[in-house]
Amino acid sequence: MFKKLIVPGFAAAIGCTGGILFERHRNQVNFSVSADSSVVDGINPSDVLMPISSSQIKPTTDQTSSRVSTIMKHGYPSYDSVRLYKNFVLSYDRRLRTANWVFEHLTPQSLDRNASVSRKNCDFFEDPSIHPSFRARNQDFKGSGYDRGHLAPAGNYRSNQEEGCQTFILSNISPQVGVGFNRGVWNNLEKYVRYRARRAKNLWTVTGPLYLPRNKNGKKYVKYEVIGDHDVSVPTHFFKVLLVENDDGNYEIESFVIQNKQIDDNIPLKAFKVPIDSIERSAGFVLFDKMPKQMVRSMNSNNRFLDNFHKSLTQKDSKEP
Ligand SMILES: *[C@@H]1O[C@H](CO)[C@@H](O)[C@H](O)[C@H]1NC(C)=O
Repeated sequence: MFKKLIVPGFAAAIGCTGGILFERHRNQVNFSVSADSSVVDGINPSDVLMPISSSQIKPTTDQTSSRVSTIMKHGYPSYDSVRLYKNFVLSYDRRLRTANWVFEHLTPQSLDRNASVSRKNCDFFEDPSIHPSFRARNQDFKGSGYDRGHLAPAGNYRSNQEEGCQTFILSNISPQVGVGFNRGVWNNLEKYVRYRARRAKNLWTVTGPLYLPRNKNGKKYVKYEVIGDHDVSVPTHFFKVLLVENDDGNYEIESFVIQNKQIDDNIPLKAFKVPIDSIERSAGFVLFDKMPKQMVRSMNSNNRFLDNFHKSLTQKDSKEP
């Protein structure tokens, strides 16, 4: 059961060349989602901008719209400023100048590598589909002391240069502490997602920022830094949730929250596991809501994959396990 909204006249817009061009397609979303009308109705079409480009961003075709359906198979967490890319779908938070969430779908095949693909061939670039008042710029990160941290990691897309470079769009980027976080524990978590995906049939992953309160003098406060002229928010924490479909058809879920600060490399990832509903409560949306909860086994107290992953990391193998 699929409900498909086809875009009349969309093809005419695809022929554009020269730089990145964005077209607003009011009520013209080339979109294919499973037939839960609330899902279709929930999307505000005027807010779904189709990126069209001759270089970094491919036009949406039937093929990419079915890719989007696959990535979002288990439900949209929210519909605020949704953006569709080749391999990831994100919702942008205009007030905080970074994403609400980024969804991806990985398989053993999608992680194939092409040795000539390198992130060195990519540059970070602004997302012109975001209104200039709310858009993060490269300049905002300059001198801030923070890395431009990927939410959908470039390392998940090493079979195709163009697709890898798509992840450098600044709406997929959040300010992250460099040493000890982006280049440490968070990088390990991203490697673990790939490790797990290579041993699964399908893996869906959702990543996003959190702004968590802290107690002070018996009261709770949320405090976070903002950087640059556009006040790009520095999240206090990041979450990552993995929904794994195993070869036997069983589903497992693992969920992590890590504070955006320098963290000792020797702390195992299992120390950062948290119940998924605590992420949902903090983030303000429900994850994988189309997936019946009784079908999913929580792996939050089962570390068999994580433990083997950590062992493989210490085997001094230069190749990622
Ligand atoms: C690998 O990537 C290079 C550079 O993007 C490309 O020219 C080549 O066709 C790719 N090879 C395969 C097998 O996809």
